[in-house]
Amino acid sequence: MKLENTITAENINRNLLNVNYAVRGPILDRAMQLERELEKGIEKPFDRVVRANIGDCHALGQPPITFIRQVVALAACPELASSPDIPADVKERVREILGDCTRGSVGAYSPSLGLRVVRDRVASYIRARDGGVPASPDDVVLGAGASDVIKTVLTLFAGDQGGKPPAVMIPIPQYPLFSGTLAELGITMAEYYLDEEHEWALSRFELERSWREASEQCAVRALVVINPGNPTGQVLSRENMEEIIKFAYERGLFLLADEVYQENIVSKPFYSFKRVMHEMGAPYNRMELASFVTCSKGWAAECGLRSGYVELVRLQARVRAALQAARGVMQCPTVLGQCVLDCVMKPPAPGEPSYPQFAAEVSEVQRTLRERTADAYHTFNQIPGYSCNPIDGSMFAFPRVEIPERAQQAARELNMAPDDFYCLRLLEETGVCVVPGSGFGQRPGTFHFRTTILHTRDEFRHMLLSFARFHRAFLQQYGDERAMTVDM
Ligand SMILES: Cc1ncc(COP(=O)(O)O)c(C=O)c1O
Repeated sequence: MKLENTITAENINRNLLNVNYAVRGPILDRAMQLERELEKGIEKPFDRVVRANIGDCHALGQPPITFIRQVVALAACPELASSPDIPADVKERVREILGDCTRGSVGAYSPSLGLRVVRDRVASYIRARDGGVPASPDDVVLGAGASDVIKTVLTLFAGDQGGKPPAVMIPIPQYPLFSGTLAELGITMAEYYLDEEHEWALSRFELERSWREASEQCAVRALVVINPGNPTGQVLSRENMEEIIKFAYERGLFLLADEVYQENIVSKPFYSFKRVMHEMGAPYNRMELASFVTCSKGWAAECGLRSGYVELVRLQARVRAALQAARGVMQCPTVLGQCVLDCVMKPPAPGEPSYPQFAAEVSEVQRTLRERTADAYHTFNQIPGYSCNPIDGSMFAFPRVEIPERAQQAARELNMAPDDFYCLRLLEETGVCVVPGSGFGQRPGTFHFRTTILHTRDEFRHMLLSFARFHRAFLQQYGDERAMTVDM
């Protein structure tokens, strides 16, 4: 008897068929294939593939912060404490963390919300960041990265309300964790467009439009704001944040603030939504809020160790209990990841043995970010047919690209979106792998791509030259007379 599959595309959970995550999509698959072809010695018009599709700093050569790695190493292997290479503050930190681990081992499960010592540290960090606004460790839930806790919080909104399916408002462009997770949970996306003409601000008018249209069919439950933006790199002004908070209040929406790039800002002050709500006073200081932070970003950039948290403010006790039960089912986030978070929340202070090296390492990370954001912004605005808003933070540029009508036609003939076509051609001709704007969403008729900007200086220069040369050739091929020499 032939053994039939019990699970097929016809009877699988339908929601999973709608999950897309462009950051690891078909262009990356092709890039990996090209890498294999180069290894086999197959001729290409480039000598290497440059992966610029994902915000993974260590993968691009950023060295880890020594203090973090020493804490992780010692926590995993306490016998190393006898080594003279381990500074006293690292030993002290590990002693504190292991003191909160069952039998002093990172191999034991922690409480499902995370170790108490780390949650205390998170609360102190938030208080210091927000100029003294109160923060409680009881409101902090640790996760295996921000994605993990974002999914947990979005799960709260699944299920019909008064006979209507749920919807969550997300920005366009957005980071596709949100679209992918909402698709998986069967929650409708109520998309609102960021205003590219005003440095990717949120317009109250557009928020209202999106809410009104979605409310015809759905119960709109929550509003997601990504600040600093990914892929857009803007940092919202305080006035804009106040407008958003008022909108969420008036429409009875739960606010999810994805603030994972708060330590990757080059040019503007960062205000957390929690702080702004608090300082706006009543009734806004009584609103619920979820704010997300991760160790995958910022100066730590420990993506692979999977660590982050959500601060959940003013949740009803029964909601908090339900969420805690759901987290309990998953046991706990990795304890080594919690060690990383502990270091990020309380890095070495002046006077401590690890401080000089720590300060030098962080300052190099910050210098690189300042240099790359400026370089990307200036270069992209010099390429005819490209435009790019100022990059205030994050680790990406999201330039807009004019794609000539003839190229759009060529894309349609191949059944491809014009920006997919553009990015695929860019990859095939230069080896640079970026993500088409359609993976994040964009206004119809506009085209963009997202590139990571944290490569080494020489590699980044190589990428920028590749964009300029490729675009010139592309315009020449598709008959746009603006093709001209770009001096770089
Ligand atoms: C805006 C945003 N939110 C959340 C995440 C999730 O990161 P992680 O799960 O690694 O913490 C990312 C990762 O790139 C991101 O860009």
